[in-house]
Amino acid sequence: MFDFSKISELQIPKIDLSNIEWPRFDLSRIRWSQIPKLRIGDSVAKLPIVQGGMGVGISLSGLSSAVANEGGIGVIAANSIGMLDRDYYAKHRDANVVALRKEIRKAKEKTSGIIGVNIMVAVNDFHALLMVAIEEKVDMVFLGAGLPIKGIPVEELRSARVKVLPIVSSARAAGLIFRSWVKRYQDIPDGVVVEGPKAGGHLGFKEDQIDNPDFALERILPDVVAEIKTYEDKFNRAIPVIAAGGVFTGADIYNFFKLGASGVQMGTRFVATHECDADIRFKEAYISCKEGDIEIIKSPVGMPGRAIRNKFLMDISAGKKMDHKCAWRCLKSCEIKTAPYCISLALDNARRGDLEKGFAFAGSNAFRVDKIISVKDLLQELQKQYLCAEEKGAGRLRREYEKALEKLVSLKEEYLIGVSSLKDEYEMGIEKGIATLREEYLRSMDKISSLKNKYLKALDNANFLKKELIELFEQYSLFKRLNTEEI
Ligand SMILES: Cc1cc2nc3c(=O)[nH]c(=O)nc-3n(C[C@H](O)[C@H](O)[C@H](O)COP(=O)(O)O)c2cc1C
Repeated sequence: MFDFSKISELQIPKIDLSNIEWPRFDLSRIRWSQIPKLRIGDSVAKLPIVQGGMGVGISLSGLSSAVANEGGIGVIAANSIGMLDRDYYAKHRDANVVALRKEIRKAKEKTSGIIGVNIMVAVNDFHALLMVAIEEKVDMVFLGAGLPIKGIPVEELRSARVKVLPIVSSARAAGLIFRSWVKRYQDIPDGVVVEGPKAGGHLGFKEDQIDNPDFALERILPDVVAEIKTYEDKFNRAIPVIAAGGVFTGADIYNFFKLGASGVQMGTRFVATHECDADIRFKEAYISCKEGDIEIIKSPVGMPGRAIRNKFLMDISAGKKMDHKCAWRCLKSCEIKTAPYCISLALDNARRGDLEKGFAFAGSNAFRVDKIISVKDLLQELQKQYLCAEEKGAGRLRREYEKALEKLVSLKEEYLIGVSSLKDEYEMGIEKGIATLREEYLRSMDKISSLKNKYLKALDNANFLKKELIELFEQYSLFKRLNTEEI
C-alpha cells in the first residue's frame, strides 16, 4: 500500500549556486602603458618604428643611426647612393657599392642599434647593393619598387643573419612573394612593409587607385595581415606586418596596431629632423608647403610618385625637357630617350638643396610639418601620443568592461530569481500531484468498498438461498423416505 506519510520525505533537487563559475577579469594584470616592441626575427627594436629608407641620400648614416640610437630601426637608402661622390658619372655602379659600404660602416660606428638598408628591386645594381648589405652584415634589408622574388641569395642572407622585408602595396603582391619564396627557397621573408597610397616617393598604385578608399592603408593592411597569417601558421614563425604611408602621430600608430600592424614605417616625419641627411633647404620645403602643393607626379621610372610642387615640376608638366645625361641606366624601367629629366639627378640635386634643378618627394602629410626637431624629440612625442591614444582606448575598454560587469550582476540576479521561482513551482507541482493522487486513491477506495458491499450483499443472498435449498432438500428427503416406507 502507498504510504502517504512518506511523501514529505521526497527529495527536492537542490541547485548549488556556489558551483557556478562567474567570469572574472583581472584588470590589474593588463599592462596599459607601454608601446610594444617590434621583433623581426632575432632583432628586437625597443620602439615599433621603422624610419623608411629615403633616396636619393635623404636617409644615410646620420638619420639612420640617430633613429637606431633611440630604439627605432634606422634605414639607409641605397639607390643611387654613389651620387654622394662627385665622380659618380665616371664610377656609377662602383660608386654605389663604395658609398653604401661606407655609409653602413659609418652608421654602425655611431650606433649599436638596429640598422637596415632599403634597396629598390627596380635598380640595375640591385644584386650588387644587396651583396654589400650582406657582406656588411646589416640587421635587415627592405626591398621595394618591385617584387623580390628572382635570384635572392637566401643562403647568404641567412648565414649573415640579415633579415628580409619586402615592401608591398597589396595582399596579392605579398601572397605572390611568399608563395614564390616557398617554391624557390623553401623559406619565407622575415616581415612585410605594407605601403599605402599616402606615402612619399614612388607609389605602388595606379594613379586612379591613389584616392580610391578601397586602396587606403586601413583597407589593405588587414588583408595583408590575413594573407601573412597562413604562412606564420605554416612556418610557425612570427612575421610582423609594418604599416607605412601617412603615419604622422602616435595616435596613427595606435590605430594601425589595432588593425593588425606590429610596427609602422615613417618617412615624412623623419625628413623634418636635425639628423636627416638632406640639406636644410630640402627640410624647409616641407615646412613651407601647403596641402595643395603636394601632388602626384609621373616619374620616368614608370610609377606615380608624390612630391611637393615647385617650378621644376611645373616646367616638366608644361612639357619642358631638362638637360641631363644618363650615367649608366640605373633603373630598369627608365625610358631614357623620352624621359624629360633624370629622376636620380633631380632627387640628388634636391638633397643638396638645389630645388631649382630638382624636387622633394614627400608624403601626403608633409604640409602638417611645422618645425624641425631632433629624432629624440620626435620619437618621444610619438610615444607620448601613442600612450595617450592607448589610454583613451583603455578608458573605453574599461567603461565597456564595467558595463559588462553590471550586466553580469543583473544576469546573476535574474538567474537567482529564476531558480527560486522554479523551485517554488516545482514544490507546488509536487503538492498538486499529491492532492490529485490522494483524490484518485480515495475514489478507488470508495469504488472498492461499494464493490465490497455489493459482494457482501450478494453473499448474504447466496447464503440465504443456500439455507433455503438445504431446508428444501431436507423436506424432500423426508418426503421421499416416508413414501418409500409406505410402499
Ligand atoms: C623623400 C622620400 C624619399 C623616399 N625614398 C624612398 C626610397 O628610396 N625607397 C623606398 O622604398 N621608399 C622611399 N620612400 C618611402 C618611405 O620609405 C616611406 O615608406 C614613406 O615615406 C612612408 O610614408 P610617410 O612619408 O607618409 O611616412 C621615400 C619617401 C620620401 C618622403
